[in-house]
Amino acid sequence: MKHQIAVIPGDGIGPEVIREGIKVLGAAAEATPGLEFKFVDFPYGANHYLKTGEIIPDEGLKQLSKMDAIYLGAVGDPRVKTGILEQGILLKLRFYFEQYVNLRPIKLYPGVPCPLRDKRPEDIDFYVVRENAEDFYVGLGGRCRGRSKEELEVVRSIYRVKFGLDVDAEGDEVAYQIGVVSRKGAERAIRYAFELAKRKGKKRVTSVDKANVLTHIYSLWREVFERVARDYPDIETEFSFVDAICMWFVKNPEWYQVVVTPNMFGDIITDLGAMIQGGMGLAAGGNINPEGVSMFEPIHGSAPKHAGKNVANPLATILAGQMMLEQLGEQEAANKIEQAIIEVLKEGKVRTYDLGGKSSTSEVGDAVVEKIREL
Ligand code: IPM
Ligand code: MN
Repeated sequence: MKHQIAVIPGDGIGPEVIREGIKVLGAAAEATPGLEFKFVDFPYGANHYLKTGEIIPDEGLKQLSKMDAIYLGAVGDPRVKTGILEQGILLKLRFYFEQYVNLRPIKLYPGVPCPLRDKRPEDIDFYVVRENAEDFYVGLGGRCRGRSKEELEVVRSIYRVKFGLDVDAEGDEVAYQIGVVSRKGAERAIRYAFELAKRKGKKRVTSVDKANVLTHIYSLWREVFERVARDYPDIETEFSFVDAICMWFVKNPEWYQVVVTPNMFGDIITDLGAMIQGGMGLAAGGNINPEGVSMFEPIHGSAPKHAGKNVANPLATILAGQMMLEQLGEQEAANKIEQAIIEVLKEGKVRTYDLGGKSSTSEVGDAVVEKIREL
């Protein structure tokens, strides 16, 4: 089948790692009868923004929506105020295409150094399903300064009644941000997690929250989790508070099979997850809308200090490409890529500095391509 893939190389090391990802996808296509790609480049990122003042135009969104998937390198650049590109590109696309699941496998591959003593590949092999469209990412909030008189009165009265805070007094400026969980929004992410468990033969789904403190939004999350769990009687379930699960990821990662979490906790615990799988250079993610356009990316950022040096580890991006193939229904080609990566890592001859080696970004891409050809 022929797939049209939008490519957004982005900023920093983004273009270097995406180049290797595309190289590997090309090799997978050559090795898989009937599989073809058409890659269409999109220039969005810091350079485009600085040159044109445009982040993603409506026309760009229209073009992107005609694609089968989006393959993204990384965004963020020190020349642009922090948040502009991250929100304007990454979060914009996640929201625009309703990619309500952020799927992040936490898998330690053989031969990869793990910072946890005595943990082996069979101990670290689970999925985090991060809800990707709600929670504290909805952008609801504000500050008292700069509001209209009427708005300010409302905010003041809320703070006075709720917290006994008098925001009239000078120096008592207040900012607030609101998290939102909806029944529908929670349900679709949680159901995805259970379906994933079924598909992957996993036997336990763990739900993450902080329902002991953030009682409003996460009680609803828990209620939905319990309701959905009833449809999957063969799958064991449990709740974990987010602080506790950080501890357990380090102490007993072998316990976890599928973890489903609200957006912001998911952001945090998957950086921890990346570390226990060998580092950011190996952590991939998919922003998934099962009925729409999904977007695949390494979970690391643009690492500006490594940009242009051909030293960054491209494996996270290559693994993101592998996830993209799986989502597109190309399981056989996806397996080939993963198998090739496993071989390269096991051999340990070609690896970037983060894994203790001296190889370049492109040498790692070439090694994976070579393995695919040998499979
Ligand atoms: C991630 C990133 C993003 C997030 C940022 C860059 C907006 O940290 O993909 O995990 O918070 O989701
Ligand atoms: Mn993050």
